[in-house]
Amino acid sequence: MSAEKIMIVTGANQGLGLALVRQLCQQPAIVYLTARDAARGQAATEQLQQEGLQPAFHLLDVTDDQSVQDFATHIHQQHGGADVVISNAAARISRDVAPAEQVANFINTNNHGTYRMVRAFAPLLKDGGRFLVVASSFGRLRHLDTRLHPKFEVSRLSLEDIEHNMDEYVAAVQSGTAVEQGWPEWINIPSKIGQVASMKILAREMTDEARQRDILINAVCPGLVDTEASRPWFADMSAAKSPDEAAQDVVWLATLPPQTTAPYGELVQYRRVLRWE
Ligand SMILES: NC(=O)c1ccc[n+]([C@@H]2O[C@H](COP(=O)([O-])OP(=O)(O)OC[C@H]3O[C@@H](n4cnc5c(N)ncnc54)[C@H](OP(=O)(O)O)[C@@H]3O)[C@@H](O)[C@H]2O)c1
Repeated sequence: MSAEKIMIVTGANQGLGLALVRQLCQQPAIVYLTARDAARGQAATEQLQQEGLQPAFHLLDVTDDQSVQDFATHIHQQHGGADVVISNAAARISRDVAPAEQVANFINTNNHGTYRMVRAFAPLLKDGGRFLVVASSFGRLRHLDTRLHPKFEVSRLSLEDIEHNMDEYVAAVQSGTAVEQGWPEWINIPSKIGQVASMKILAREMTDEARQRDILINAVCPGLVDTEASRPWFADMSAAKSPDEAAQDVVWLATLPPQTTAPYGELVQYRRVLRWE
């Protein structure tokens, strides 16, 4: 087993994920560039190799239980655990397709995918480990009708409750009742609220262990990033950061030095905590 840090990024063959791997590769670490598609993952790995970097490629589809489990087994057997895990993978949504047709895959990737990563990798965090979910500033209760706030009560609910509530949300979108129930039209918002809620709950559940073992758990918003995913949704991209620019604050949070106790269980943007309410 190596003494080098083990760092993992999901959905890392393009966009922000690729930029995260590029920057993490500057650290003395083995950095796993993971992707759901072997050819796209290899191409991204070669791109970084041409830049003089040495990421390790591994196949990882966060919608596939077996794929997540196989990768967790690999990390456990090869390295004994992981120091940095960034759950970044996200499905795209198209403006041209009805929400009812895309919501199931979207939630399965972004929310249940995060849950799969939590269940497989939180137990593998080494002392000093950092677990991050790339969420968004939309992932806050202020973007949700107060009728729905009880579905995200982070002081009381479990991770499984959130999973269940996200499945109910999917069913509501599919049956055409979501908007009358108070859900926002843009399916990205409930998804991001679910991701942030899950990190807060994980942090709550792991409080004692995290304090003893110097572990940090947070959600992060990279701000508006100029990627293929965001471009169709924002008319004005002039304020958007490049993936490499946006990755800097995410990497800062993922690599906070030992004995850092805060932020913990927060949503962080540009190195500052955003209020949940
Ligand atoms: N861009 C923004 O302005 C912005 C703002 C706030 C938050 N974020 C968040 O930042 C993260 C990255 O966004 P991005 O803009 O870089 O998006 P992106 O360019 O669409 O990249 C998403 C990545 O996730 C991968 N992915 C999709 N489904 C997957 C699966 N089942 N298993 C594993 N990987 C999968 C994609 O792989 P393929 O290439 O195979 O599709 C791609 O590599 C997301 O969580 C997003 O919500 C982005």
